[in-house]
This record gives sequence, C-alpha cells and structure tokens, in this order.
Amino acid sequence: MKAIIVENLSKSYDGINKVVDNISFSIEKGAIIGFLGPNGSGKTTTVRMLNGVLTPTAGKAEILGKDIVNHTIDIHKICGVMTETAACYENITGKENLFFFGKLHEINPTELKERIDYLLKSLQLYDHKDKKVKEYSTGMKKRISLAIALIHNPKVLFLDEPTSGLDPESGKNVTELIRNMAYENGTTVFMCTHQLKYAEDICTEYGFINKGKILGFGSFQELAESKNSKKHLVVRGKHISESLGFSKLNEDSYRKEINSEEEISEILYNILTQGGQIFEAKSKRCSLEELYFSYVRGDKIE
Ligand SMILES: Nc1ncnc2c1ncn2[C@@H]1O[C@H](COP(=O)(O)OP(=O)(O)OP(=O)(O)O)[C@@H](O)[C@H]1O
Ligand SMILES: [Mg+2]
Repeated sequence: MKAIIVENLSKSYDGINKVVDNISFSIEKGAIIGFLGPNGSGKTTTVRMLNGVLTPTAGKAEILGKDIVNHTIDIHKICGVMTETAACYENITGKENLFFFGKLHEINPTELKERIDYLLKSLQLYDHKDKKVKEYSTGMKKRISLAIALIHNPKVLFLDEPTSGLDPESGKNVTELIRNMAYENGTTVFMCTHQLKYAEDICTEYGFINKGKILGFGSFQELAESKNSKKHLVVRGKHISESLGFSKLNEDSYRKEINSEEEISEILYNILTQGGQIFEAKSKRCSLEELYFSYVRGDKIE
C-alpha cells in the first residue's frame, strides 16, 4: 500500500483562483519527500488538505488508505504535523505540553512518560523541560513543536520548514531523528523546505510545485534524466590533455561528460599514462538547486 495517494487535488480560497491546481502524485511508505517551490506556490495549502485541516475544492487524496475528507479522525491519528509557526501552549512548560498532547492521543501513562523522555533527550530539550514555552528561544520552540508532532509516533509526518531557525547542531539532531524514523520505523516524511542543500542531504524523492501546479515528482535521478542532465567527471590536476575530451574549467580543473561511473577508472588511467597528474576526481550530476531552477524557472542545466 502506498503511504500517500493524491489525485487531481485542487484548492481555491476565493472560488476563482486555484492556489493548488489539479495535482497528482503518489508516495511509497518510508520515503522522505522534499516538496519544493517558491513562496505562495501552494505547499502549505497542500499539506493542510492532506492533514484534513482544509477541505479540497476538487479531487481526492488518501493517507494509508484513508480518505482525507471522510476519515479526518483517522488522519489525525496517523499523521504528525509540524507547521511553519509553533503550535503549542506558551504558558505551560515544554513537558506539560507533551503530556497534554499525549493525553489527547490517549497514549497510556507509562508509555507516554517514556516517549516524552525520549523526545526531550533526542531533541536536546531535557534541560529545558520545566521552562515555560514562552521563555524558549525560536529554535527551542521549533523543537518542542516537532516533539509534539512526534508524540504519538505517527506513521506519516508532515513538516513545514523543519530546520529554519535552528543552529547547526540542533539542525543535525533534527535531521538524524527524521532519518531514523524513516529508516527504522518506516515513517513516511513529507517536508516543505526552501533549504535545498538540506533537502538534497535528507530527501529520497522530490516534488516541485509552482503556481499550484506540480512540475516534477520523483527521485533525483528521474528528475535529472527527464531534464537531460548529464553526469560529469571533474578532475583537478596538472597536464591533463584536452585530447582526452576534457574541457578546462579553471586553472587546474577539467570536466568531461560521462555516461556511467564505470568509465572513470579508464579515464583516470589514461590521464596518468599521458603524463598528467591527478589531485582530486569526482563524478557530479547537477545540484538540487540547479534542478529546482530548471523545473520552477525553466533554467537550462549544463
Ligand atoms: N487562508 C487563506 N486564505 C486565502 N488565501 C490563502 C490562504 N492561505 C494561503 N493563501 C494563498 O494561497 C497561495 C498559496 O499559499 P501557501 O501558503 O500554500 O504557499 P506556500 O507554498 O506554503 O508558501 P511559503 O513558501 O511562503 O510558505 C498564496 O497565494 C496565498 O496567498
Ligand atoms: Mg508555506
């Protein structure tokens, strides 16, 4: 069974303009999806429909076989959601927030206590558990929101900008926690982010959206291939003969298009036998950023 199936989903707030326009995609269990697009492209609106918070204007979607419109209570049980702004009670402590949301999910008291300790420790909030949330820093609020989203061990996790405002160490901890949930528990993660380097690091698939329309959906390789982006071998070295098909990038770097990584050994061998020196060699596809601009803005990929 797929984790998420979306079919011809649309949303209009004013009855005229569709801010989500007939989108369709499906997502395997355990995938980490990066849902990427400019401000106002319809990401949060999509997430809010999939969580059962907003009613679609047209189309349908299922999460683990449950229709998002007819089974909202099941959807709330299955899904964990972390929104762009912290959704917790500011006048009580972090720990009290977790107890409150845990009880809403009817988690038994012993299990809940263990879960809370685990989340507070994994998200480096244990030392701040008895502080009121209003006294938390931005990054701490973000992490307590994530802990709340995870309290009932959701099978599908929706994250809107999970690492913005986090310092590098907290960002790393959040990333590890998300990765572990996907790899070890099979949790499906659907995240909206503008941090493309971060998405490239953690996501297994990507969806590009602009003006409410899906422009591409799939693995990096699939998306790169459909834009005809070629693999390259980039070599830094000396005396690399252009007769081997390299073009010079700068002082000591050279680039050559390759069809597969199997070709690399022979190319490097040829450089050495022709008197060249190699300091560094790597194979490279385009970056996620290049792919993003190619899908969203129509830029050409080299
Ligand atoms: N409650 C609302 N009522 C009316 N229009 C809305 C509402 N929420 C969002 N919109 C509009 O819908 C469009 C899509 O907004 P949405 O929040 O889904 O974008 P987004 O991709 O999440 O953007 P961002 O990257 O800035 O978070 C925008 O034009 C926005 O102004
Ligand atoms: Mg948004």
